[in-house]
Amino acid sequence: MEFQHFSVLLSECIEGLAIRPDGIYVDGTAGGGGHSSEIARRLTAGRLIALDKDPDAVAAATKRLEPFPAAEVVQTDFADMTAVLDRLSILQVDGILLDLGVSSYQLDSAERGFSYHQDAPLDMRMSKSGPSARDVVNSWSPEDLARVIREFGEEKYAWSIAKNIEKARRTAPVETTGQLADIVRSSMPFSARRDGNPAKKTFQAIRIAVNGELDSLSRVLDSAFERLAPGGRFCIITFHSLEDRMVKQKFADLCKGCVCPPEFPVCVCGRLPRARLISRKPIEPSEEELAVNRRSRSAKLRILEKL
Ligand SMILES: C[S@@+](CC[C@H](N)C(=O)[O-])C[C@H]1O[C@@H](n2cnc3c(N)ncnc32)[C@H](O)[C@@H]1O
Repeated sequence: MEFQHFSVLLSECIEGLAIRPDGIYVDGTAGGGGHSSEIARRLTAGRLIALDKDPDAVAAATKRLEPFPAAEVVQTDFADMTAVLDRLSILQVDGILLDLGVSSYQLDSAERGFSYHQDAPLDMRMSKSGPSARDVVNSWSPEDLARVIREFGEEKYAWSIAKNIEKARRTAPVETTGQLADIVRSSMPFSARRDGNPAKKTFQAIRIAVNGELDSLSRVLDSAFERLAPGGRFCIITFHSLEDRMVKQKFADLCKGCVCPPEFPVCVCGRLPRARLISRKPIEPSEEELAVNRRSRSAKLRILEKL
């Protein structure tokens, strides 16, 4: 299957990165290389390090970036970005992009087991290694499943879904996306099944758990910021409220100056802001973008500049 993915907020990211032709940039989520190729084509003496944990994405990005000698693609979790930069003897970079979540290619490749639209083995592993969705669904306690489905999926019927998964697997393991989607559907009252696909939130939650997505994000935020050169930009697109909250809080913290109590006549903490926000509010897709790519509707781009 050809790698097809509509790059979200593309021009906004390119503008947000304020690319210098001789700068060094990291795209932590190369995917099909959409954002990466737009960065790479703006570089002359600069470099682009494009990362992805998915071997299929690495192959697709490598092919797409072939015309750009400034670009190199590495298969890794972006949480390990500093180790990659160390290996390449890169001390500082001028911009970092993270376009979180899954690509359309991953969602649309039935055999990757991300989608509730097609019946396929339950997998959902971006890296194609480690425990799969099948392992999670068949071995986690109903309490842990319910917690993940409630927290990461914001699913009201989380407990009912977790109990029904546990009931089903007592007979035989839940093996396919179709089986899981049926269990989710049957765990909800009829009235709740009308709003989009009832399996959407549960599939999102299990995917986030299988890939440790929030953990990777929390690990990369500080370490990536430390590698930015003064004036360097950090652009992050999120698609989930928990991710967006993490980014928003971290960026706000980095922009905070003095934390002395207001009654202190002079500052004694000496804390200075380390960054500034490029736009106070997150940037969201335009009507034109939404018209051509409905999957971009929950995207939020936040941009930070290191001082
Ligand atoms: C939304 S897509 C990126 C699409 C890309 N910006 C483009 O324009 O083609 C997200 C990509 O990030 C990768 N990804 C998600 N979490 C990752 C992580 N922790 N480390 C490395 N890659 C990750 C996924 O495998 C997927 O290919």
